[in-house]
Amino acid sequence: MTYQKNILCIGAGYVGGPTMAMIACKCPQYKVTVVDINPERIAQWNSDNLPIYEPGLSEVVSIARGRNLFFSTNIEKGIKESSIIFVSVNTPTKTFGAGAGMAADLQYWEKTARKILENAASSKIIVEKSTLPVKTALAMERILTSNGNGVRFDVLSNPEFLAEGTAISDLEDPDRVLIGSRETKRGISARDELVEIYANWVSNEKILTANIWSSELSKLVANAFLAQRISSINAISALCEKADADVSEVARAVGMDSRIGSKFLNASVGFGGSCFKKDILNLVYLCRHYGLNEVADYWEGVVRINEYQKDRFVLNILKAMFNTLAGKKICLFGFAFKANTGDTRETPAISIAQKLMEENAELVISDPQALENAKNDLRDIKGEITYIEDPYKAVSQCHAIAILTEWDLYRNIDYEKVFSKMKKPAFVFDGRNILNHKKLFDMGFNVYSVGRPPLTHFRVD
Ligand code: UDX
Ligand code: UDX
Repeated sequence: MTYQKNILCIGAGYVGGPTMAMIACKCPQYKVTVVDINPERIAQWNSDNLPIYEPGLSEVVSIARGRNLFFSTNIEKGIKESSIIFVSVNTPTKTFGAGAGMAADLQYWEKTARKILENAASSKIIVEKSTLPVKTALAMERILTSNGNGVRFDVLSNPEFLAEGTAISDLEDPDRVLIGSRETKRGISARDELVEIYANWVSNEKILTANIWSSELSKLVANAFLAQRISSINAISALCEKADADVSEVARAVGMDSRIGSKFLNASVGFGGSCFKKDILNLVYLCRHYGLNEVADYWEGVVRINEYQKDRFVLNILKAMFNTLAGKKICLFGFAFKANTGDTRETPAISIAQKLMEENAELVISDPQALENAKNDLRDIKGEITYIEDPYKAVSQCHAIAILTEWDLYRNIDYEKVFSKMKKPAFVFDGRNILNHKKLFDMGFNVYSVGRPPLTHFRVD
């Protein structure tokens, strides 16, 4: 079989895997190979048990896998035979040295660039898919042009805006595709080649081109703006709880202003996920680097409010349960950072679980997709934690339920049955405001939500 183009992606994670599966599915004329240093991950991509849970992903993979989509550990061969290489390796926050806790750790990126350099015998287009600090492309270009053997590399920035849980529909019908390039003749011709790939299924007016630094910065800014909305409404939720207002009513009224819009205004236990915190801290680091301390402080406030929101949730539980959680059994409904994913990176559930354990509570953790990750995240915590997927079994003899992920499952279970299995007085702390609180209250629960007055059966003197 001869293909029109050979495309490679290095990094078979949450971004690389689904993105390449979509390109392969939409463009049978290209050969798409996804490589990774982790052989287990590749074996899973080649099995019926994909390494990530994403609605619609297995259907897309099964259309293309073996036809023009291949998963492999042979990175060298992949580099040799491809003319376009996407790089989608992880770029965690640095845990050591200068910028620890803030700057991005680029060691995997740099290693990948060196590997490309070692193995490339012909010119290639390198596409940044990972979210990276601004000017990473420049560093990549420098590494890639360091051996002077005449092989040319053109580095493009093509940030991925998909959200987990909706990755497949986001990829199939994106709001926009952004491609940044150098504004040289070569840069523009490399960019046009990437535009041509997306044009197979995305309409032209949605494919934006920009200079490479604008493109890199746009990804950080998009995530900072989204996270900022959540921190804004979460900040207001604290005020609503004091002022007897209802944050959902406020969000509804505010969001109907078409200049503001209604999305991303759900008050919650706080945002999680691999991107928001990391990308804002990256932005903050960049601003401090340029001496823009006021700008850095402004954006850092978004992360501070998020930490505050998680702390506040636990303090509210403690206060409601008579200032002691020692020996009490608390069931967490949901551990993933949002619904429809098994991903637990930066999930608010991790710090909430830690804080509850510091109060000597006992935890029962329930989640339809994330229990394996949860076990791993909490492996170093001392104390009583059990993991039970079935929510009815999980709540048995519990004093309280805390809803941490907005899975539909938790909206639809029989709370009469749940109530009958719990210790009394029974508490629900709805960290996602997804349940019918009045109904739960009428069943006998004491109900606490985010940004609404509590509904309790206790007499207030
Ligand atoms: C992506 C982006 O890379 C990140 O910058 C962005 O902010 C979020 O999305 P993601 O796909 O979620 O990350 O990361 P992950 O699921 O950890 O996948 C990265 C993959 O790269 C892993 O499978 C890892 O094994 C692989 N990898 C890492 C390599 O193949 N080579 C390396 O040198 C390092
Ligand atoms: C985000 C961006 O949306 C996406 O464009 C980017 O490519 C990667 O980062 P993701 O982290 O997958 O995607 O999920 P997202 O849907 O943005 O949710 C992030 C967090 O915010 C979740 O913990 C979610 O529960 C929380 N959230 C979201 C709220 O608390 N309230 C809201 O109103 C919306």
